[in-house]
Amino acid sequence: MLPFARVGGTLQCEGVPLDRIAEAVGTPAYVYSSASIRAQYERLDAALAPVPHRIHYACKANSSLGLLALVRSLGGRIDVVSGGELFRARQAGFPAEDIIFGGVGKSAQELREAIDAAVHVISVESEQELRLVDELAREAGAVARVGIRVNPEITVETFHDYIKTGEKGGKFGVPFDEAHAVARIADALPHVRLVALGMHIGSQLTDLAAYRDGIARLEGLIDGVRRDGVTTLEHVDIGGGLFVPYDGESPADLAGYASIVVPAVQRLGLELIVEPGRFLVAESGVLLARVLYRKRSGGRDVLVTDTGMNDLLRPSHYDAYHRIEAVHATTGRGRFDVVGPICESGDFLALDRELASVDAGALLCVFTTGAYGISMASNYNARPRPCEVLVDGSRYGVITVREAYDDLVRRESLTPDWRTSS
Ligand code: LLP
Repeated sequence: MLPFARVGGTLQCEGVPLDRIAEAVGTPAYVYSSASIRAQYERLDAALAPVPHRIHYACKANSSLGLLALVRSLGGRIDVVSGGELFRARQAGFPAEDIIFGGVGKSAQELREAIDAAVHVISVESEQELRLVDELAREAGAVARVGIRVNPEITVETFHDYIKTGEKGGKFGVPFDEAHAVARIADALPHVRLVALGMHIGSQLTDLAAYRDGIARLEGLIDGVRRDGVTTLEHVDIGGGLFVPYDGESPADLAGYASIVVPAVQRLGLELIVEPGRFLVAESGVLLARVLYRKRSGGRDVLVTDTGMNDLLRPSHYDAYHRIEAVHATTGRGRFDVVGPICESGDFLALDRELASVDAGALLCVFTTGAYGISMASNYNARPRPCEVLVDGSRYGVITVREAYDDLVRRESLTPDWRTSS
């Protein structure tokens, strides 16, 4: 079953018409299909079934508690990249042994939190960070389980430079030629245990060869590290990055992915870790928005909606394509700029897009917004962030209420709490 389909002219999520949800909770609203997340999880789990593996959901894609709880109920584990995401993971009930903690710039405070929680792996991205983890673990009277994120230094095809993360000279990971030396240091330090070597090549990878090349580099490294007598390795971590179609492209070739990953993991004799973000949740989500006004400007037809770059940054930040459809079928098509209410000309959802010819009051559905939608939303122009709704079969429920004006000023005061510098 498709998570979103038109029934009697109206778009539905599973068994629930989207206009019902919009009437009940207002717009803008993110709506997620639990069946879609379940199906994606199960497809990936089945593809990797021939080898021992752990699916750690990269919750940067969407860390709303309701979705985290769903992923956890499926047997999923979690990948966090900040103290805040670690907090969210704990709130959603993930036990420490199901959490891996990555990220290029973890503060000492965040590392202490990860050490105190005793997470399954702290993935370090530099020698300095490794030494800091060792020192903080000593202070805590602990031995931290660490992984090293290696920069595989391969050039990949992604739709935007901002989501390439495995290229030489980038900020991510330990440079490949230093990785072996850093692994040796990890092995020698008394308060860390080197349990994983890993990589993340980039997001939205269109060519599986990137995995093949990256894994080959990791294999060489792991062989070398083992020849040095390191016996503590438990995991090889190949990151996330699986492709998701936004515009009718073919979906990720999971059989092809498995045919690269499975034999390599079997050769290595380690447990595989994967960190999918977008793959699990992107297609589960839509953003519902109401057309406020239709106008003509410089020969163009413009639909001004009640959502924009504050709720969904991807079109303006990456020039990303998101399919848009009217929730109610109409006759006639037109070409429109679909824009938001924010005072920036970069605030658009689509430019010069062919669409059903709609007018003020119409309900629009912006597709494939389950990943990097709400998690990148902001309060720019002091706009409260949208609510989020989870659908399951014929029922739906709010998992995040719409922000209120009070939420916007909760942390602020009219007068400073003055202090003197002396
Ligand atoms: N692991 C690491 C270390 C990562 O940096 C990322 C994503 C993932 C896993 C998950 O990658 P995925 O499976 O979602 O491709 N905001 C951008 C995407 C940024 C991805 C950053 N890292 C977007 O909206 O397209």
